[in-house]
Amino acid sequence: MDKLVIDGGVPLAGEVRISGAKNAALPLMCAALLTDEPLRLENVPQLRDVSTMLRLLGQMGVAVSLDERAGVEMRADAIASPVASYDLVKTMRASILVLGPLLARCGEARVSLPGGCAIGLRPVDLHIKGLEAMGAQISVEEGYIVARSGRLKGARIVMDLVTVTGTENLMMAACLAEGTTVLENAAREPEVLDLARCLAAMGARISGAGSDIITIDGAARLSGARHRIMPDRIETGTYLVAAAATGGRVRLLGADAMLLDAVLEKLRESGARIDAEGDAISLEMGGRPKSVSVRTAPYPAFPTDMQAQFMALNAIAEGAAVITETIFENRFMHALEMQRLGADIEISGNTAVVRGVPRLQGATVMATDLRASASLVIAGLAAEGRTTVDRIYHLDRGYECIEEKLARLGARIRRAH
Ligand code: EPZ
Repeated sequence: MDKLVIDGGVPLAGEVRISGAKNAALPLMCAALLTDEPLRLENVPQLRDVSTMLRLLGQMGVAVSLDERAGVEMRADAIASPVASYDLVKTMRASILVLGPLLARCGEARVSLPGGCAIGLRPVDLHIKGLEAMGAQISVEEGYIVARSGRLKGARIVMDLVTVTGTENLMMAACLAEGTTVLENAAREPEVLDLARCLAAMGARISGAGSDIITIDGAARLSGARHRIMPDRIETGTYLVAAAATGGRVRLLGADAMLLDAVLEKLRESGARIDAEGDAISLEMGGRPKSVSVRTAPYPAFPTDMQAQFMALNAIAEGAAVITETIFENRFMHALEMQRLGADIEISGNTAVVRGVPRLQGATVMATDLRASASLVIAGLAAEGRTTVDRIYHLDRGYECIEEKLARLGARIRRAH
């Protein structure tokens, strides 16, 4: 199993380009199921989750072609089998995003129920409840969600809590429903807005995306389109925190500072100097970072997908910080691994108190999920000596060529088998 070997203590310096967003690419690819015409996506990140989604769509009969310029063209003119098999769904929960489009387009879908996950129970009850409100009959049989419906009907859906993929699934389904759907307490994440933009280019009638009330007037059919995927704000944030934790100076290209207000504010609070100009964000960290407390919540508040990276920053910062995780019930697995590097972290329920230490010591650590693995890489870059991060297949799910990009910034890092 692949691992990353890091010789720490080098301040990151230089420029790298940010890739397209994983959490936008996955729902956008599912939107191809809503039309029999070609959907062309650009700025598609080369990630394991993207390959998994392409295989899933291919298994359903979607014609897929890739080009060398990070472009993917998909054409679902015939959906031979509206089924998402356990083998693929178990490797990627986001497969649930085919449920709404398949039901809206084919009137039937059989999607393996995503099981538990390292960071939390993560049920999909709100996806199912919303589709039932639109007239679908849904049951769970042999571990599969089995859904059937005539043409879906518009409905007013108030979601009990903010769910990103739940909002995306229902928004896509509503595009082909009869009448108007109103999603209340909808997710406001930029990835939801990027999906709405693409759906609008396909002829969907959507208003309010990016706010907590989204209205969709259903259409009889959608057409093909061409869409450039937004930059990955979490990849951007990860590189900025890595630079801050190593006392570095970097410039990220193809990024969008507007998507990262809460994260940039916390980095400035930790003492980083940040400039944003056009699609470039520069960060310089002169001295030792200062501790910053964070509390995760739905967008535009501080993102849960940046919580682990900030734990690594606080592990070597001056002072103490409180990290409160409000979205997922089990998202502190990285803390135990960071303690192996000498970090001083105390966990109690959904709160972690991190007392910064002057230096971490390299050791072998194990990644448990995507963002936890990114935080261990950051801790390894800041640590003295050698850190080996095991099980980095988690990283490959969400970071394109991470060791090449970090090496371009001067890191002493390599992949080992
Ligand atoms: C999306 O997951 C992201 N994944 C996650 O990123 C991200 O952490 C999360 O949103 C929150 O920002 C993708 O976009 C592919 P939720 P999602 O539904 O949609 C509960 C990463 O690292 N809930 O917004 O699955 C749920 O258990 C990943 O890139 C229900 O109870 O998250 C959680 O506590 C990790 N019932 C909360 O809502 C439901 O039906 C928010 O989850 C749905 C969700």
